[in-house]
Amino acid sequence: MQRIAVIGAGQMGSGIAQTIAQHGMDVLLSDRDISISEKAKTGIEQALGRLVGKGKIEIADAEAALARITPIADYAPMADAHLIIEAATENEAIKQAIFGEAGKVLAGDAIMASNTSSIPITRMANFTPDPARFIGLHFFNPVPVMGLIEIIPGLATSADTTARTRSFAESLGKQVVEVQDEPGFVVNRILIPMLNEAAFVLGQGTASIEDIDKGCRIGLNHPMGPLALADFVGLDTVLDIVRILQATTGDAKYRPAPLLVKYVEAGWLGRKTGRGFYDYTGEEPVPTR
Ligand code: CAA
Ligand code: NAD
Repeated sequence: MQRIAVIGAGQMGSGIAQTIAQHGMDVLLSDRDISISEKAKTGIEQALGRLVGKGKIEIADAEAALARITPIADYAPMADAHLIIEAATENEAIKQAIFGEAGKVLAGDAIMASNTSSIPITRMANFTPDPARFIGLHFFNPVPVMGLIEIIPGLATSADTTARTRSFAESLGKQVVEVQDEPGFVVNRILIPMLNEAAFVLGQGTASIEDIDKGCRIGLNHPMGPLALADFVGLDTVLDIVRILQATTGDAKYRPAPLLVKYVEAGWLGRKTGRGFYDYTGEEPVPTR
């Protein structure tokens, strides 16, 4: 695969585009508005600049990677893409509308993939032109750093689509796990209840934000505590995933923590809005409770 389209230029779409470009492929990057994809490209330029500054990559390689990324305003240029990766907001209606639009230009042998964290692949396949060429391709945040990709074939996904998608994921230097299309796949099925539980623990006053995170960081040897990680993922995305787990399983154990709901309703979505369980507007993150 040489030309990849990425739809959604938020933190995941940006990381996916950067990683693909650093592996020598061309990327078309789109969002609701071209100004968002252009801003994302500027963010990628800064991320590549930091890698150059640390001596991790050569300046010529950073410039070449950046030149491979083209922000686009509409779907037409995606007709040339070998793979279209949807990485927009974790909302099924938004994704369905995107599949409808991208489906109109999807090339005859191209693959359409979703980076959804939790929405069933088999169900979303109905909104694509060819369910045999639709698959879950689940990256982890931050994409340039994290070594894993989950591949989730839906019921109708062909063996050829799965094999080509695996080969693409491996070409990015990532390890692949192939997962059945079950709620939350593997990693989020285990991770997201932990992040939600941390919000319950905080809401019950069991410990402070700092001590909940310190406990898990030091006691479990995790790189981030669960509240800091929830802020990193995005509290809106965490809540969307919790609700999808609850709806798709019907199991009350996935009910959202009231405090998580409250933070999202306040618009405190974590790092991306500058405030979640921590306030990120100063030099160091400061707990918000
Ligand atoms: N983009 C690119 N590179 C980044 C980065 C970013 N946003 N953040 C950090 N890095 C790089 C740094 O440049 C650094 O690289 P070098 O070692 O080559 O210099 C490296 O990552 C380590 O960074 P730092 O030293 O600044 O910070 P750290 O050691 O605290 O690591 C972290 C930062 C990698 C984010 C680490 O805290 C971590 O692994 N956290 C957990 C991340 C995690 O669990 N991700 C999965 C989330 S769940 C998910 O993605 C699925 C879903 O559907 C919700
Ligand atoms: P984000 O909020 O950072 O970015 C979402 C982007 O989608 C925004 O730029 C938004 O403008 C764009 N968007 C919304 N509607 C659109 C439309 N109709 N057309 C094109 N673009 C549109 O969210 P994110 O964290 O990048 O998450 C994106 C997807 O990746 C979600 O499905 C999420 O569940 C999944 N995901 C997130 C993480 C994570 O840690 N945040 C990890 C793996 C997968």
